[in-house]
Amino acid sequence: MEPNMKKLAAEKAVEWLEDGMIVGLGTGSTAYWAIKRIAERVREGLDIKAVASSVRSERLAAEWGIPLIGIEEIDRIDVTIDGADEIGPEFHLIKGGGGALLREKVLASSSGKLLIVADESKRVETLGRFPLPVEIVPFATRLTLNRLKELGCKPAIRLDGEQPYRTDNGNYIADCRFGSIADPERLTVLLNQIPGVVENGLFVRMTSAVFIGHRDGTVEVLNA
Ligand code: 5RP
Repeated sequence: MEPNMKKLAAEKAVEWLEDGMIVGLGTGSTAYWAIKRIAERVREGLDIKAVASSVRSERLAAEWGIPLIGIEEIDRIDVTIDGADEIGPEFHLIKGGGGALLREKVLASSSGKLLIVADESKRVETLGRFPLPVEIVPFATRLTLNRLKELGCKPAIRLDGEQPYRTDNGNYIADCRFGSIADPERLTVLLNQIPGVVENGLFVRMTSAVFIGHRDGTVEVLNA
């Protein structure tokens, strides 16, 4: 039977947590395993406080007994553990497949370390095969999509059934098919210059280390 690569990677990253830390909890099916393991370590005596990047992850943490601290009560996060949709060259990332990119980026940008956990399928030579999630305000979406198209992608509003998907912040997500993204650094600036864009799913120069779970049951740890 194939090992659970996401679980293995997530559990390895949780080994990096120490007493006294403020920990950012990511979102998604890999972050799920990290949250589960953190809860086990808390039951074993690990003394941390956590902030979550989504309502979903906050509920999991509360249900499993991880001590939570309000986001407005903290000035720093020591370590955030989160997943990714693509891990490209220089550990630039595409995130937001789970719709939590804005809060994830807020946590990541204030974290001493961002640990990315993923199975081996997420490593890519060039970012952009995965449609880039871009969080946009619900006002004038047609105009915002036109501006996104000018950057060379095919954008589509993410749906939840027949309605637009709503993020935890009440916004929409435009999934933007670029095919390939040659210069993530430049693209992230251009995207965030569009007034209707709240944030985009490119995480540039944010990763501290990646934990890649492999089919053979090993976990590769790469420092960025
Ligand atoms: C959520 C994210 C996730 O980290 C990303 O989509 C990866 O998810 P998974 O671990 O389920 O493959 O960015 O917004």
